[in-house]
Amino acid sequence: MKTKKKRGEQIMYIGIMSGTSLDGIDMVAASFSDQSATLHHQAEYPFPEKLKDKLIALSQGASVTLEEIGTIDHFLGKTYAEAVNRFLAESTLKAEEIAAIGCHGQTVFHKPTGPMPFTMQLGDANIIAALTGITTVADFRRKDMALGGQGAPLVPAFHQFLFSTDSTTKVVLNIGGIANISVLAPDQPVIGYDTGPGNMLMDSWVSKHHGKPYDKDGVWAASGVVNQALLTQMLSDGYFAQSTPKSTGRELFNQRWLETHLNTFSQPVNAEDIQATLLAFTAQSIANDVTLYGSGELLVCGGGARNKTLMTALQLALPCWQVMPTDDIGINGDSLEALAFAWLAYQALKGKPGNLTDVTGASRPCRLGAIYYPD
Ligand SMILES: Nc1ncnc2c1ncn2[C@@H]1O[C@H](COP(=O)(O)OP(=O)(O)O)[C@@H](O)[C@H]1O
Ligand SMILES: [Mg+2]
Repeated sequence: MKTKKKRGEQIMYIGIMSGTSLDGIDMVAASFSDQSATLHHQAEYPFPEKLKDKLIALSQGASVTLEEIGTIDHFLGKTYAEAVNRFLAESTLKAEEIAAIGCHGQTVFHKPTGPMPFTMQLGDANIIAALTGITTVADFRRKDMALGGQGAPLVPAFHQFLFSTDSTTKVVLNIGGIANISVLAPDQPVIGYDTGPGNMLMDSWVSKHHGKPYDKDGVWAASGVVNQALLTQMLSDGYFAQSTPKSTGRELFNQRWLETHLNTFSQPVNAEDIQATLLAFTAQSIANDVTLYGSGELLVCGGGARNKTLMTALQLALPCWQVMPTDDIGINGDSLEALAFAWLAYQALKGKPGNLTDVTGASRPCRLGAIYYPD
């Protein structure tokens, strides 16, 4: 559906996402109606290298001073704001045309269970609003958590909006650092949760052995042989048996988690065989969940959709599903999450809820995010 736009009218929303992979800052400008989303511009900006190691250590429980947290919060806020200003300069858009920015922020900790659940996303939205002159919505997860929810995943509501179905079951699979699914079945409430690791363990292993951020197209994994015993052991992690709602992050599936598994092996396993096993583990843990929902279309987005070996492994593990990147149906899989946060900002400004209680477990639907004004 086409959206009418008068020059200077504030109907556009910017979405900013930087996920657990720490690979980049995804940005979109989009407009919305009750029925449709129109993408106007998109870009990806590099994630500040000097922060990456620090953030990985933080999410794995490294101790940090309050001053360091404040510094990261400020630095990220400034980085996001500069990226928005660059984004506007590179497009034909003007700040006056943007009703709001929806900025997810950078997750440094996510602990949705226990007596004191909390989640923390950094990137000071006051700075973003002040340096861009645009109203900014941030801190999307904690209201849902305040209502007893996981605060995650938040994208299923947007997936429902975008892909809702009246015939075929569709599962939207986002393979970022963590993998999450949204199950859209005709006449059923949406189901959505984190299935477990996405690219994170593979990224971590290839970085350790080859100093590369990721295994391009899964070529290295394809050169190895899956170690079945290791695969079975990893699949026995308690997270997979947990009932939903559930969400996870780097706090669980990280390099230390992998090393704990490897240390229990008396026979050494080749590095490439470990990569092959990690890819099989990612694919199998996802497939074990998807298969619960019968058959239909598996629409894959996020960086993992570019990993050819992983996509082949998913199709092999899911013969009853047609596995395809969302790009095949005209929706850019790299910017879908950023688009979701633009939509969540739209929902917040319109006074509409952003969470799905069946997905997060919150006691009621609510408006998500705190609003930061530039004036
Ligand atoms: N060509 C490719 N081959 C294999 N993996 C890829 C490719 N392109 C991207 N990726 C993977 O996607 C990840 C980024 O995915 P993304 O959806 O941005 O995750 P996040 O939301 O966690 O930032 C990279 O770290 C990498 O693992
Ligand atoms: Mg990313």
